[in-house]
Amino acid sequence: MTQEEKTPVRHLLSLSELGAESLSQLIARSVEFASARTGEDAPLKGKYIGIYFSKSSTRTRTSFTVGAMRLGARIVSFGPGDLQLSTGETIEDTARILSGYLDALVVRTNETQAEMDALASQDAMAIVNAMSAEEHPTQAIADLSTLLEKFGRLDDLHVLYVGEGNNTASALAYAVAQVPGMKLTLVTPKGYGLKDRTLEEAANLAQLHGSVVEHHHRIERLPSSVDAVYATRWQTMGAPKSDPGWEKIFEPFCVTPEMMAKVSKDSGTVFLHDLPAVRGADVLDQVLDGPQSLAWRQARHKLYSAMAVLEWCLTPKAVLVHDAHQKMGQAHSFQQTHR
Ligand code: CP
Repeated sequence: MTQEEKTPVRHLLSLSELGAESLSQLIARSVEFASARTGEDAPLKGKYIGIYFSKSSTRTRTSFTVGAMRLGARIVSFGPGDLQLSTGETIEDTARILSGYLDALVVRTNETQAEMDALASQDAMAIVNAMSAEEHPTQAIADLSTLLEKFGRLDDLHVLYVGEGNNTASALAYAVAQVPGMKLTLVTPKGYGLKDRTLEEAANLAQLHGSVVEHHHRIERLPSSVDAVYATRWQTMGAPKSDPGWEKIFEPFCVTPEMMAKVSKDSGTVFLHDLPAVRGADVLDQVLDGPQSLAWRQARHKLYSAMAVLEWCLTPKAVLVHDAHQKMGQAHSFQQTHR
């Protein structure tokens, strides 16, 4: 098949440019896949998907691999060093070549967003950002679909994020900013917050969509009665921080049963973690394994969100979700399956 004969594709590079309608479709579609009501009809039969991870991954890589297979696609996997990128071929040339073979390329890199943009310099192969140094967009889709499944709505939920302002936090900020009525409070150690540019973009999106994204460093001033507490590993991608004494600075940001009790609602506050967790550092066992923890279900949602993303990228003309906005904005009960 020549490039000219290929169906148009959509890239998923950053939630900041995805658009609220597409985000809403993807979240609702993830919940549909989670309910096992759909997804076995092989909508991606005949498609070839590359999975290129230059960095380690347990959840995202497996989710995209299994998700692609469940949707009927065939996959080609590339690890670090497999492509000639590692010997100096340019990103643009690599993308141009691979787009002649593949319909989509799911990419994890520790590089900047610019690498994703360069890969997307062609339109014959969809590029999916499976985490760059700056953003982890498919994680945020899984996060919000986990919350939608649990609460049946997103529009009045308040999420408290505690820890480093990393790529997971950036994606979460962009996502929440595009859900009308939703609120995100990010509390990060001083010197380890989100980038100013990210906060500005999130603030602009929040203003446009009627949501709230706030950010501060005062761990002693946590909001009360939140719906979800969110933690991530402090050493993103396992990279040790070089700053002496950083552990001491992060210590008060550990999510403990006491912190959960302080910020929880009587009606039920949940705990989220994108995993991997460092038990005893970013979260204590009693929280991660406790009754409020949705972290394991959240990890499961990475499979469903991967399926939603691949379908969205490769079947752009399909009407994926008929009532996505209804599901985002109003109470709606979803059947939960815990496989
Ligand atoms: N949360 C997450 O992205 O996990 P992996 O690094 O294992 O893919």
